[in-house]
Amino acid sequence: MTASEAPKKIHIKTYGCQMNVYDSDRMADAMAPSGWVGVASPEEADLVVLNTCHIREHAAEKVFSEIGRLKKLREERVAEGGSRLMIGVAGCVAQAEGAEIARRAPAVDLIVGPQSYHRLPEMAAAAATARVVDTDFPEEDKFDHLPAPDRARVAARGPTAFLTVQEGCDKFCAFCVVPYTRGAEVSRPAAKVLEEARRLVDAGVRELTLLGQNVNGYHGEGPDGSDWSLGRLLLALAEIPGLARLRYTTSHPNDMDDALIAAHRDLPQLMPYLHLPVQSGSDRILAAMNRRHTVASYLKLVDRIRAARLDIALTSDFIVGFPGETQADFADTLAILRDAAFVASFSFKYSPRPGTPAASSPEQIAEDLKTERLHRLQAQIDAQAAAFLQSRVGQTFDVLFEKPGRRAGQIVGRSPWLQPVHVQADQSLIGRLAPVAITGAHGNSLHGALVASVQ
Ligand code: SAH
Ligand code: SF4
Ligand code: F3S
Repeated sequence: MTASEAPKKIHIKTYGCQMNVYDSDRMADAMAPSGWVGVASPEEADLVVLNTCHIREHAAEKVFSEIGRLKKLREERVAEGGSRLMIGVAGCVAQAEGAEIARRAPAVDLIVGPQSYHRLPEMAAAAATARVVDTDFPEEDKFDHLPAPDRARVAARGPTAFLTVQEGCDKFCAFCVVPYTRGAEVSRPAAKVLEEARRLVDAGVRELTLLGQNVNGYHGEGPDGSDWSLGRLLLALAEIPGLARLRYTTSHPNDMDDALIAAHRDLPQLMPYLHLPVQSGSDRILAAMNRRHTVASYLKLVDRIRAARLDIALTSDFIVGFPGETQADFADTLAILRDAAFVASFSFKYSPRPGTPAASSPEQIAEDLKTERLHRLQAQIDAQAAAFLQSRVGQTFDVLFEKPGRRAGQIVGRSPWLQPVHVQADQSLIGRLAPVAITGAHGNSLHGALVASVQ
């Protein structure tokens, strides 16, 4: 294939966390200047990139079945005399199992780790003739080489945006692959973050969610050369005119410092919502997980955060069936769910991951027991989530409208606590904030009516 015939349509399929969502957009932005346009399905594409997640076994296995499907699509297309479909694997499976993919899936043309996305255009060009692999942790900073998205591309993505400020993790929880797939903690310089934020706001973004595997461990170089914490960075971001809302995720309890808690008290832009995973409510299991905090220290932290911002909604991740977890340990997890008053959680059955310490524990828990505990935990969190939603009925608060609703004449936005809010209103409100009086709750969302002037 010659350069002039180079394929130009890319489809990126995203798995895993918000950091992958952000990365997928940045990959698309990196490809755009080389003439690649995004398409909505693999069927239309010349290159399909799977942006993968390695966090649980199920997530990683999905990649291999998807590669199988794409290989079939390629064969069908060749049989019909069409162009060759290229298959790329990016993200955390590429990073952790690049060699395994190369061995198990010869159909894959391109394997790229999360630190090398700026090299994607040249890799795609080279992959037209031979397989290319790049899973290094290069010396250069990919963020310095990734092109900025143009205004129209940002505007098309709507009024909310992610912004990665920190990558990697040094915590080494005993169950987790992230320190291996994403490497050591690195923070972007504050000036770079502020510049990207201003560009996003200039293109119409009203709400920014700062991202990092350990986002509150952010320690970036400040514009004056000093070390900036996340709290300091949020103060600077809050000064950007037009930026109405700030959020951040995901945080580790041990990195919630005074400056960050004070930001929750002092910044009206910082939404009263915090995802602060506790993982388990048993000190014995927390120690075995190497979480380096206790139930008491976590609950004390929650008290300090609530003292700073009374109406904050807390959410968590939980792992059930960690090796050695007894009925008593699990009962303690149900207790902390109640005591910390979580309003939502992502909860998972423990999945042994290659290379992590917990995977080789002899005390693995039977699958059916894990399933039963997961259902019990989810039933309790569902009840707490429903009670929280119900407590919003009768309140009036600002909603940032994001898109049309499913019903005619309806638009949908998010509450300060992140629940979807549906109202009957004109589409011209999309991208804007407006106060809504909440009249009811249904499923996981709220509905209400516009009450007054629009900001
Ligand atoms: N940095 C974040 C979480 C990153 S991973 C934090 O510290 O909380 C997202 C979630 O996946 C984790 O919070 C954990 O609940 C879950 N997870 C990670 N490894 C897992 C495993 N081996 N089995 C099941 N769930 C896991
Ligand atoms: Fe994984 Fe723990 Fe790091 Fe979170 S803090 S990414 S759970 S090792
Ligand atoms: Fe998955 Fe990688 Fe995110 S393992 S959860 S995509 S950091």
